Amino acid sequence: LFNAVEMAPRDPILGLNEQFNADSNPDKVNLGVGVYYDDNGKLPLLECVKTAEKQMMEAPKARGYLPIDGIAAYDSAVKNLVFGAGSDAVKSGRVATVQALGGTGGLKVGADFLKRLSPNAKVLISDPSWENHRALFTNAGFVVEAYPYYDAARRGINFDGMLTALNAAPAGTIVLLHACCHNPTGYDLTAGQWDQVVAVTKARQLVPFLDMAYQGFGAGIAEDGAVIGKFVASGQDFFVSTSFSKSFSLYGERVGALSVLCSNKEEADRVLSQLKIVIRTNYSNPPTHGGQVVATVLNTPELRALWEKELAAMRVRIKQMRTAMVQKLKAAGVKQDMSFIEQQVGMFSYSGLTKDQMVRLRSEFSVYGTDTGRMCVAALNSRNIDYVCACIAKVVG
Ligand code: LMR
Repeated sequence: LFNAVEMAPRDPILGLNEQFNADSNPDKVNLGVGVYYDDNGKLPLLECVKTAEKQMMEAPKARGYLPIDGIAAYDSAVKNLVFGAGSDAVKSGRVATVQALGGTGGLKVGADFLKRLSPNAKVLISDPSWENHRALFTNAGFVVEAYPYYDAARRGINFDGMLTALNAAPAGTIVLLHACCHNPTGYDLTAGQWDQVVAVTKARQLVPFLDMAYQGFGAGIAEDGAVIGKFVASGQDFFVSTSFSKSFSLYGERVGALSVLCSNKEEADRVLSQLKIVIRTNYSNPPTHGGQVVATVLNTPELRALWEKELAAMRVRIKQMRTAMVQKLKAAGVKQDMSFIEQQVGMFSYSGLTKDQMVRLRSEFSVYGTDTGRMCVAALNSRNIDYVCACIAKVVG
């Protein structure tokens, strides 16, 4: 049966973890996957999470099946966070939200639903985008193409190219947009540019699908989520997948969601019924623990305030690492201007290093980033940053 099965290539991001774990170099640094580590190089367990888990352990509950769409208190906390507590979108019942297995799960539930709804639609993702976007929508049965995004020469966004491509897309095209902290480039649209994108997707009757996996890592929770309000105000139906992997440091719990903004409550009820079929036929219903932790934190005012403080601390530390990296690269002898690293936002720096240079960083120095030149600056700390910058200086010459 399996004679003809070919060996699949390693995943371009998670595959690096496998290589990193097998590397015996004591100086190794993993800047591959998008994970935040603290200044001691440790994955943090947030205090708000610890407190919520303590409360949960003090009143332990049996684990029955969750509803197909997840914990009601979780779904409602997600709606309030993403669309605004007390917002008209939430109050009117127009948002259908389901708990999903991380942000990836939210994307996949949305992709499968869209495939049933619009089987012939094309999907447009940014060039470049998170590697898994193309794979995930292709595996859901879509033809995936790209709209221009990154402008390497100007170290920024090719906004004219992006708008032109969106303007040329046929009605019904699904457009994947990064709500904040663009992965991998770290370059986000300005508020004014978002207004233009919102106007084009509306005028061209495109289907916006926002991926918001890094809310709170750019300028702040509200600031990073502001684009959602723009799409709501425009009166368009749209999708948004969200994740608490990074913002709660709950990577392994797979806590995310998919929300779909519909025209009215009756439509949202019908959409929700279809999302539930997608979930039921894939994994039946979501797990309990992570969703319960997040719901407890978001629905308890003191814990919510603590979460915001802890998230802000992660955001500030990443920015400090960006500033330090620019200075240390210069001090290590890198001639080219690397100040763009400070302009980029979120967990990543799109360093501009070539594939050969990234391979050398890995094979000669055990510094792991993706072949595309993406480095996770959230994994830098005061102990490894000198080594990383010295290694980069060696490979860029
Ligand atoms: C990343 O881009 O590194 C993260 O989103 C983790 C992942 O699943 O790829």
